[in-house]
Amino acid sequence: MSNEHNRESWNRLSDYYQKTTRISLDDVHYGPYSPGEKELQVIGAVKGLEILELGCGGGQNSIVLAKWGAKNVKGLDQSESQLDYAKRLAKSQNVEIEFIRGNMEDLSPFENDSYDLIISSHALSYVEHPQKVFMESARVLRKKGRIVICVLHPIMIVTWEALEEKSWEKIRCYFSEERDMWDWENQERETIARFGSTYFRFEQIINGLISAGFSIERIVEPLGYTFDEVKELGDTIPYQNAQEIDRKFIEINQKIPFSLIVSAKINL
Ligand SMILES: C[S@@+](CC[C@H](N)C(=O)[O-])C[C@H]1O[C@@H](n2cnc3c(N)ncnc32)[C@H](O)[C@@H]1O
Repeated sequence: MSNEHNRESWNRLSDYYQKTTRISLDDVHYGPYSPGEKELQVIGAVKGLEILELGCGGGQNSIVLAKWGAKNVKGLDQSESQLDYAKRLAKSQNVEIEFIRGNMEDLSPFENDSYDLIISSHALSYVEHPQKVFMESARVLRKKGRIVICVLHPIMIVTWEALEEKSWEKIRCYFSEERDMWDWENQERETIARFGSTYFRFEQIINGLISAGFSIERIVEPLGYTFDEVKELGDTIPYQNAQEIDRKFIEINQKIPFSLIVSAKINL
């Protein structure tokens, strides 16, 4: 399933996705029921920085970075519906962000050495060729520029279906390079949209960044919030289900990290 098919699927899903998730406009999120940037401090100070977000979706992370004083924030996504949502949201939050439609494997709209920071949260698994994203990011970043990428954690990827089906035979092969086809279902288990994802081994992400010219700065595997913490923190949780507190998901995240965050900087 190609990038183009995923674009159509995100156009179909966008409205439902934005209604059924609650994403913070005060903190950069790193996935559901997980601490965000305020607690994890992966990105650090952004005042005065020029920032590009890849796979920005509804624009929430871009909006937060603009509120925190980034000089120029641009959000790239390939879904028109997601971008329409992002534009409306940025206007309602009184922040200036340029949202651009495009495929993050091809950053040709952006000049060499033009950004201080590139971020991407839970978008990379949708692309067909992540190495192109790393190479293009290295080109577009200034010297000393940094990339912060957040993806679905490889342990979560291999165990997800086995946990759902309570069957070890459903453990996904860690070494499989096949593109996975999967359905996004609503609460009634009806399919809303179909996606193709490529999942990357830990070594592919780390070695991919190194061979594109980055040095790894930091790797973070966030421990999810407990059920009691989720209830206590309420709306300040950076990313959560808007319909119900997903208790099973929260309990799994006490044992397996949902996200893998990698921060890397351009070699001089
Ligand atoms: C799970 S959403 C995450 C959105 C946002 N980063 C967030 O954290 O809320 C994934 C987003 O990646 C976008 N996307 C997927 N493949 C893409 C590609 N090849 N180029 C640009 N955007 C892409 C989708 O359109 C979708 O908006």
